[in-house]
Amino acid sequence: MSRKPRIAPSILSGDFAALGAEARAMEAAGADWLHIDVMDGHFVPNLTVGPMVIGALRPLVKLPFDVHLMISPVDPYLQAFAEAGADVITVHPEAGPHLHRTIQAIKALGKKAGVALNPATPAQAVEPVLGEIDLVLAMTVNPGFGGQKFIVSQLDKIRTLAAMIARSGRAIELEVDGGVTAENASEVAAAGASMLVAGTAGFKGGPAAYAANLRALRGA
Ligand code: DX5
Ligand code: ZN
Repeated sequence: MSRKPRIAPSILSGDFAALGAEARAMEAAGADWLHIDVMDGHFVPNLTVGPMVIGALRPLVKLPFDVHLMISPVDPYLQAFAEAGADVITVHPEAGPHLHRTIQAIKALGKKAGVALNPATPAQAVEPVLGEIDLVLAMTVNPGFGGQKFIVSQLDKIRTLAAMIARSGRAIELEVDGGVTAENASEVAAAGASMLVAGTAGFKGGPAAYAANLRALRGA
């Protein structure tokens, strides 16, 4: 059976005029990680933040920074994100021709490495690198925007990934990102997710609601 999932609120759904206060409020509310979505307007059709914003947030909270890079190319920027304070750096296989090399570069920077799979990318895309990575991120929306609807067909892939991870015998986090709500969180956790990203569902109602939002997502 699944354990209670941990929660990584996505700052993408926070108030961009007050990102520092948002990060602090989420830490105070008991978030496990802070998920930071980096978009380049090229790999995905939206633009967000880069290493400078991450570096500005870093001294404000102790929360691990879970940096989801939706940029291409990605290799030239890995060092900047590592130096800005990322703890986990997650990349998409489609973002560069040499996924294994990218993972090696993240590990050489002393960071945890993750691989993100788009809804149309098969679970098997991550199999050859399971021995090297710390996290698999299963996208349950197409990347680019918060507030989209959870793609239910991805539950099967989450189960497949959970089984692959169990077979590997390694402690690999299975993170699910996109359209997660208090209503579907327990089903997603039961499919094998250990970490749920929550944008809209994490930040709705403003800071006074964050602790209750996290409780609802954990199924408490
Ligand atoms: C989408 C991002 C997600 C997004 C999730 O490209 O990767 O992390 O912030 O937002 P919600 O939870 O609103 O779908
Ligand atoms: Zn994300």
